[in-house]
Amino acid sequence: MTADLNPSAYDAFAQFYDAFTAASDYERWTEQVLALAARHGLAGRTLLDLACGTGNSFMPFLSRGFEVTACDASPAMLAEAASKAPGAEVVLCDISELPVLGSFDLVTCFDDSLNYLLDDEELGAAFEGMARNLRAGGLAAFDLNSLLAYRTTFAADRVSESDGTVFAWRGLGSAAAEPGSAAEARIEIFATTHRQRHFPRERVLALLAGAGLECVAVHGVLADASLDERPDESRHLKVLYTATRAEGGDA
Ligand SMILES: C[S@@+](CC[C@H](N)C(=O)[O-])C[C@H]1O[C@@H](n2cnc3c(N)ncnc32)[C@H](O)[C@@H]1O
Repeated sequence: MTADLNPSAYDAFAQFYDAFTAASDYERWTEQVLALAARHGLAGRTLLDLACGTGNSFMPFLSRGFEVTACDASPAMLAEAASKAPGAEVVLCDISELPVLGSFDLVTCFDDSLNYLLDDEELGAAFEGMARNLRAGGLAAFDLNSLLAYRTTFAADRVSESDGTVFAWRGLGSAAAEPGSAAEARIEIFATTHRQRHFPRERVLALLAGAGLECVAVHGVLADASLDERPDESRHLKVLYTATRAEGGDA
């Protein structure tokens, strides 16, 4: 079975998602993010997790006492999240058209979800949605795939097996992918195509500024989920951005 991996295709993917990401260390990732957020003045324990998928990205926050609201555009992914975490409020919505869901201390968007937005307008709209939902002084943290990810992961085939399911990932991109270009990958068996694009750092910084958010840190993400203070798109597959909504700034 083969199909496109677009956001809507996550409905077909939902039942396989946790097996596909079984190797991801969400606990360690959360520890890293919380330590970083604490260094940048995180105060309070309300979290809005954008594109939460099956809930793995917010579960470690929930278990650390955060009050969690989360959203995703896929009803099936969201249903998995809701069944895992009845204590979280989950909302079906597109992150590029985010309503005001509250005034949060921390807004997160993890595991390359923002790369599914295919142009500057959509990414800028997502940043504006983050700003609308952050209290003054609140923090946003999100990762984006680096150019290395598009030149390697999205340009190669890989077969993996988890929980009795075999996943055949077909990277349809190019090892010479240009900055800012789009790329696709296909997962076979239930296959759906993941269409994403790369966002160069200067575009991210400009769009954050346009949304009233100030970037306070940029880190490279290493394979073991630890953070490198010298982000390098030729060495790291993901880059973690931390931004703040300035006190008294417009949302
Ligand atoms: C790779 S998963 C990440 C899920 C979760 N954050 C995690 O770390 O496990 C990407 C998620 O982004 C969601 N998504 C993609 N585009 C979206 C959009 N425009 N609005 C809301 N959710 C979106 C998909 O439905 C999917 O659940």
